[in-house]
Formats: sequence, structure tokens, C-alpha cells
Amino acid sequence: MSTWANLGLQDSASPLMEQLIFFHDHALLILVMITVLVGYLMFMLFFNNYVNRFLLHSQLIEMIWTILPAIILLFIALPSLRLLYLLDEINEPSVTLKSIGHQWYWSYEYSDFNNIEFDSYMIPTNELMTDGFRLLDVDNRVVLPMNSQIRILVTAADVIHSWTVPALGVKVDGTPGRLNQTNFFINRPGLFYGQCSEICGANHSFMPIVIESVPVNYFIKWISSNNS
Ligand code: CUA
Repeated sequence: MSTWANLGLQDSASPLMEQLIFFHDHALLILVMITVLVGYLMFMLFFNNYVNRFLLHSQLIEMIWTILPAIILLFIALPSLRLLYLLDEINEPSVTLKSIGHQWYWSYEYSDFNNIEFDSYMIPTNELMTDGFRLLDVDNRVVLPMNSQIRILVTAADVIHSWTVPALGVKVDGTPGRLNQTNFFINRPGLFYGQCSEICGANHSFMPIVIESVPVNYFIKWISSNNS
């Protein structure tokens, strides 16, 4: 999760988020190079008094400053497209989790396992444990196995919500009447926090998501203890 003064991205816990961070850094590098170059040129214009009395138009310079930015844009567009299709790839998921957005809580269904279902509410500040995270902890966590492909189906019961977990690189809108799909792979154990990120009403800020990533055998234990 994000902690104090963390202005950048969270550490990634999935291969897709790793790729997203690489792309962000790549795009930022190009952005900084262009900003520095253009900034330098504009600044330096104040201090020279050269005049080219014969320049009215020039096909050559027009060609250069049209084609060069187009080529630079390609260096952003192609990796962006690669990432876009990578995010949409479904790789034979071993677990499917359905998450339904409500005003204002999430409910979850593990349809692979005898239809386990439960609601997940935020813990109010006055009921928080001393080690709890305010506005971020929930009463029922989503338990998921690490090192396995997980498919998530997102929908909503009332208005549009968005199931968003930054460390996993997941952000899917839950829309009433539609079922959206994405997948991810968690590569370490731990707790991963997320929040709804579609302005869904008065308590939009109070429907967080907590994923508890555990080893596969622990997950099987958890799932069978819920079955009985
Ligand atoms: Cu649900 Cu914002």
C-alpha cells in the first residue's frame, strides 16, 4: 500500500504492474527530454539577437519538425499498444473471483467453490484496531492464492463502481448489467489494498478492497473451511 509522502507508484506485486511501471518510466524519460530541450531553446531565445532576413519559409525545416515528433510518438505508441494487449490476455486462470460493487461495499463470490459468497465492508474509524489502516481495512478480506493466474469478474448492483488495486495493476469498472473481466498473477504473499475509483455516491471513499495473498495450500485450507 501507499504510505506517507509516497508520490510515485506503489511497488508492484504482479508481472503486469511491473510492465506498467516500466512503461511509465519510459514515457516519463521521453517527456523529460522533450521538456528540457524545448525549455532550453525557449529560454535561449531571450538572449540572442540573430535575425535571418532571407527566411520566409523552408520546406526542409518543416519536414524535419513534423516527421521527428511523429517518430518520437511511435516510440511511445508501440510499447503502449503492446501493454494494452498484454493486459487483456487471459492465461488459463485457476481461480475465478466475482466481485460486485454496491452502494457502498463490495461483495464477492467464489463460484468455483460451492458458491462461497460474502460482503466486504470498510471498518469504521471508531471500530479500528490500533494496527488497522483507517479508511482502508475491511471486515472480510479477499483471500487469493499467490503464484497462480486469477480471473476477476466485475459487475455492480446499483451504480458504476471500479474495482482498483494499484499494486496488482488492476482497475476494472463494475457496471450494472455488464460483466467485465480481467486477470492477474500475484507474485508474493501479503496484503494488497485498493479503493473504488469510480465516483459512485456519498460514501464512494468508504468501500476499500483488501486482498490477502497466501500460498496455494493455505488458500485451499481457507476455501474448505468456508465450505463446511
Ligand atoms: Cu464505489 Cu466509488
